[in-house]
Amino acid sequence: MAKKIYTFETIDSTNNCAKALAGVFAEQGTVVFAEKQTAGRGRLGRSWDSNPNENLTFSVILRPSVPPESVNLLPLFAAVALAAAVERATGVKVDCKWPNDLLINGRKFAGILLEGSISQGSVDYVVLGIGINVNQERFAPELKETATSLRLATGKEIDRVLLFRTIMKSFEDHHARMSRTHFQSVVPVWTAHTAMLNREITVSLQGTTLSGIARGLSSDGGLILNTDGQDRTLFAGDVTILKK
Ligand code: BTN
Repeated sequence: MAKKIYTFETIDSTNNCAKALAGVFAEQGTVVFAEKQTAGRGRLGRSWDSNPNENLTFSVILRPSVPPESVNLLPLFAAVALAAAVERATGVKVDCKWPNDLLINGRKFAGILLEGSISQGSVDYVVLGIGINVNQERFAPELKETATSLRLATGKEIDRVLLFRTIMKSFEDHHARMSRTHFQSVVPVWTAHTAMLNREITVSLQGTTLSGIARGLSSDGGLILNTDGQDRTLFAGDVTILKK
């Protein structure tokens, strides 16, 4: 991982650049990093705003050997690798929230955006775009109640370079282990790193909201939601964990 790192002061989106590089045969593990994104994207068509010089916004190219129906395991792999690195670097407890968020004390401090290319029935590449609130202390009014940063959570300024190195090392270790199982082994690891299972949740997608109990993950990374006694598997949506 990160044998080659492209760094930018300003770019539209590190995911766009990483996809362009992957399209011209950039190697697995290539990283694109930017201090400022003018069109940073989140999931479900949202934007990702991040203060320059305070946070980490980067994308990693993978060329995984997984069938297209298993690509949803890859953001889970990134989430557990990221969670382990942040816990090691800061000592705070991190929770994974399906599908691609990382939380501290119920507040989001990092998100992952998976984009990729499938050709002739196999995965050509995936780009894992990662945004981490590291030293940001102020958030837009609409995020104030739900967002946090590592600085706010620890009360200390975080060395971004050290954190980035710890993350890359964790990606490498997790990748070495999990790619051997075509990323199937991420399911129990992610499950052990979440506080949302067996809780009442709602999942919203395109104007529809389902309520139920989060039961676990399917072997291809879907969320098993029990609604009215019936299990169904979801592959996208926005989860709200209801208060106990
Ligand atoms: C989410 O939580 O919705 C995912 C956020 C992903 C943001 C990162 S920042 C680096 C990369 N480039 C982008 O345009 N988005 C991702």
